[in-house]
Parts: sequence; structure tokens; C-alpha cells
Amino acid sequence: MDKSLRRPVIAGNWKMNNTPEQTKALINAMKPLVADADCDVVLCVPFIDLYAAMEAAAGSNIKIGAENCHWAEKGAFTGEVSADMLKAAGVPYVIIGHSERRQYFGETDVTVRNRVRAALNAGLKVILCVGEVLAERKLGITEQIVCAQTEIALAGVSEEELKNVIIAYEPVWAIGTGETATPEQANEVCAVIRALIARLYNKDAADRFVVQYGGSMNDGNAAELLAQYDVDGGLIGGASLVAEKFAKIVEAASK
Ligand code: 13P
Repeated sequence: MDKSLRRPVIAGNWKMNNTPEQTKALINAMKPLVADADCDVVLCVPFIDLYAAMEAAAGSNIKIGAENCHWAEKGAFTGEVSADMLKAAGVPYVIIGHSERRQYFGETDVTVRNRVRAALNAGLKVILCVGEVLAERKLGITEQIVCAQTEIALAGVSEEELKNVIIAYEPVWAIGTGETATPEQANEVCAVIRALIARLYNKDAADRFVVQYGGSMNDGNAAELLAQYDVDGGLIGGASLVAEKFAKIVEAASK
């Protein structure tokens, strides 16, 4: 297997931060810093900031994503945004199944699966998030949890459609806590996900499949995490809100 088959993806998840004006300012600050990236660079922002983000990123190597989408094409779902709406707005990426949505907004493996289906139907690129909570890690069932989340989310996804999916392994205990998985822990679970992709699809699909790590990745620890064989990028929260820090992570992925 050859790591160079996979182009790293560094994605920022801004979560519920920044107004449209702040979005433009931050992307304008980031643009020159990441212009020479030898990896894909994505920023996922709140719905209200998508147009400002796309306008600021136009003509640059930064791609924009949303942080969620609904599974229905349209209808009586107050407060929701469909995958088709994102596509029509020109948004290429969407995060699905982030642990904050699972923890605070009742997201289940089945709703994640339905959202993945809708996003792929609409032609979006999906960043699918999986990861165990601390109690699951302590019980020694990380692998089972992550594999179950992945297998359910990908049910019915064809090998062709899989080309529009990347997975972010985000141990919930490492998100926003400053506690990062060790490079070995991150690599171990990313490798498990890749092996599952090989079982569900085939070795070639697995060799080309991008698996990111997320959870307190920052400019200080990114290089070591990204050097791991099965870690093909990062999904970054806090450090993606600071242009210089995010740029350093992008630089680490470009080596
Ligand atoms: P932090 O980088 O702030 O830990 O957040 C990670 C994350 O949840 C990215 O989706």
C-alpha cells in the first residue's frame, strides 16, 4: 500500500463561530498563507456564512463546506437545510455526523446514514465523522463502535459514490479538550477504518480512501499525527479559527 495514493485533506470545522464579516476577514487572512498547499484545504462554516465564505475563497485553493444537511429533499422541516439547497448554492462539501450533533441534537447512526445518502444524491462531497466516547474507549470497544458507525453510515453507498466520501475519525474525548489522541492511537483507529473499507469494498478503494484524524489537532502536534501511515489529513476545530495556526497545519500536511 502506498500512502502517496492519497492526497491529504485539511479541513477546518468552524462550528458555531464567526459572522459573515468575520468569515470574510479570516478567509482573506488565510488565503495567502495556504496558497502553496500540497493538500486539499476545506473550511466548513455555519449556513449563514456560506456565501461570504465562498465569495472570499473564490479563485483560491480553499474549498467551502457546510456543517450538516437534512436527509429530505424538501418539506416541512423548520430550521433545516437540504443537500440540494447546498448544491444549488455552489457548496461542494458537507460534514455529516459530527459528534456534537450526535451528542446534543439527537443524531443517530440511522439519521447520519440518511443524511449521507441525501448528500451523495445531491452530488456533495461528504466528510463523515465517527468516533468513540471516553466510556467506550475505557471499555475497550472503540473498534466496534467506530466500525458500526462507519458500516451503517455507508450502507447502500456504491464504490463509485465512495469516491465522494472521506471519514474523519474524531475520538469524542479529544474534541475541544486539548487532549489529543497519541499518534499511535490515531493511526490505529484510522487503520481499522481503512481495513473495514477494504472489507466492505476492496483493497484498491481502501488504499485510495482518505481517513482524517480530528480532536485537538493543532500547529504543535499536526506534523506527528499527519506522519502516521493511515492518517491522511485532519478535521480541525479550535485551531482552524486562527489563520496562522491553520496555515501551519496545512503546511505540515503538504510535506
Ligand atoms: P477541536 O480541534 O477544537 O478539538 O475540534 C475538533 C472537531 O470537532 C473538528 O470537527
